[in-house]
Amino acid sequence: MTILPILKYPDPRLRIVSKAVTTFDENLAELVMDMKETMLDAPGAGLAAPQVDRPLRIIVVDWAQEGQEYGQNVLALINPEIVASEGAQVFDEGCLSVLDLTANVDRAALVEVQAKDISGQPFSLIGEGRQAVILQHEIDHLNGVLFLDHLSSLKQELYEKKLRKARK
Ligand code: NI
Repeated sequence: MTILPILKYPDPRLRIVSKAVTTFDENLAELVMDMKETMLDAPGAGLAAPQVDRPLRIIVVDWAQEGQEYGQNVLALINPEIVASEGAQVFDEGCLSVLDLTANVDRAALVEVQAKDISGQPFSLIGEGRQAVILQHEIDHLNGVLFLDHLSSLKQELYEKKLRKARK
């Protein structure tokens, strides 16, 4: 297993629309293992393949249930798609690819996602609350969308300014 380097905003590779996985083989299983390890090492609530410079529709998410510790239940979703969503919530989000920023983002309160596992078997799952946020955030990455994009242009400008200052 390998801890992969995570691309950081404003790296243009974070804007690529990732391609669907068509081959469910050992290479896929290995990439998923590496992504899980990378996410746990960071640590983060989720990680999408384009964040580690693999433009494929793969996400891993922390799915720890009540009473479980972080890292005890990490799910991999291949070619995930949101098929239904309901309600609204505001959640304070951050991202392993967007340094030094957390901000409130409007999200659906509940989502149903269809995906495949690493052997290509379809499954679906429902996420509520924090888990719904993680699914929406990570699936956004597969479309080249960052949580920043959901913020007001004023907040985006302030963040850009902060980044430019930090680079000087
Ligand atoms: Ni992210």
